[in-house]
This record gives sequence, C-alpha cells and structure tokens, in this order.
Amino acid sequence: MKIFLDTANLDEIRRGAEWGIVDGVTTNPSLIAKEGRPVEEQIRRICEIIDGDISAEVVAVDAKEMIREGRQLAKIHKNVVVKLPLIREGIKACAALSKEGIRTNVTLCFTPAQALLAAKAGAYIVSPFVGRLDDIATSGMDLIRNICAIYKNYGFTTQVLAASLRHPIHVTESALAGAHIATMPFKVLDQLFNHPLTDKGLEQFLKDHAKVFQESGAVG
Ligand code: E4P
Repeated sequence: MKIFLDTANLDEIRRGAEWGIVDGVTTNPSLIAKEGRPVEEQIRRICEIIDGDISAEVVAVDAKEMIREGRQLAKIHKNVVVKLPLIREGIKACAALSKEGIRTNVTLCFTPAQALLAAKAGAYIVSPFVGRLDDIATSGMDLIRNICAIYKNYGFTTQVLAASLRHPIHVTESALAGAHIATMPFKVLDQLFNHPLTDKGLEQFLKDHAKVFQESGAVG
C-alpha cells in the first residue's frame, strides 16, 4: 500500500520525506488555503520535495471550467494528479481529462455507487472519505471494503485511496481491506511508529550494552 501525506504544509512534507516512506501527497482547497500561498506555487513546491503523485484540486463546479482548470494544474508538473469532486460535472470532466491522458483523483466519494461512476469515467484514483462517514455514525471502512470488492469483480484499474483517515487503526484497516493508497495527516503518520514496548525494549538493549562495553571500556 502506498502512503500519502494529506497536507499542503511544506515542513510536514519535508519531515515525512526524510523518513523515505512517503509515496505522494494529497491536497484540497482547505489544506492549500491554510498555507496562504497561491495554489500553483504551493503545488510546485510540494512536487520539488516528493517524487510521486501530488493531487491538486479544481475549484470550478462546471465541467468546462473544471477541464480548463485541470489542464492548467496538470501543466505545473508531470506528477500532478487533477482532483475533481464527485458530482455530475466532475464525472463529466473526469471522462474528458482521462481521454486526454490527464490523471484524475475523484474526491468526496461516500458510496460504492459513486465509486463505480468514477471508475467508469476512467479515474486514476478514487478518494472515499472514511472519517467523515464515521462522524455521522456510518462505517467508513465498509465503504473501502465494498469499493475494493466491486473494482476487483470487474478488473477496474482505478486505485482506491482511503482518505479522511484520523488514526492508526484506520490505516491498518485500509491496508487489510486492500486499499491501494492511504492518505493521512502528518500526525497520523507519526503515530504509526509508536509502541511503548519498542521504546522499553530499546532502552533495555542500550542499558545492557553500556553496562558491559562502555562501563568496562571494552569495545562493543
Ligand atoms: C484527501 O484527499 C481529503 O481531502 C482528506 O483526506 C479529507 O480529510 P478530512 O475529512 O480530515 O478533512
């Protein structure tokens, strides 16, 4: 499973990149707005840090304008994936951009039927939102499982990107469900490292090593 960072913050992206495990980045208009730089400039800077798929979202809501905006975004860098909302006009734009060879990420997906439409339109990625469904007492993870099953039934090549992940269990369950990609805030990626027994075990190993090899002056 590929790991993407769900942020437009350059410091977070740099920190994730240093670990060597970040395959791409997803942004949305809210995340870009938080950083305060023009969209094109911020996306270009992200592309300079991570050599992988970088999703940049259109803000137009009619297909013609989405296609125009999508073409502009795709010109920023070869790794840009154009993010489109899963509305009628977004699906129309997805079909058109896909035909031109522009890779798309169809976002704001909340049902398996919507995901079927994205695949039919040739989406490169579909983004089902797990956390936002959990928030309204509906299983977000069932959505990931159902989309993976449907895509497998018909051999759709659209990648399932588990989005709106809020904690490490969401990441594990997305991997078990067979999601191709999990995108997560920096905080969740950082949490994936943690286990108290790892810290306790390391502390003991270092203590035992120091007792024999450092306190006695022997080389270990
Ligand atoms: C990613 O593509 C989505 O925009 C993002 O995961 C949404 O997450 P949120 O529900 O935490 O805002």
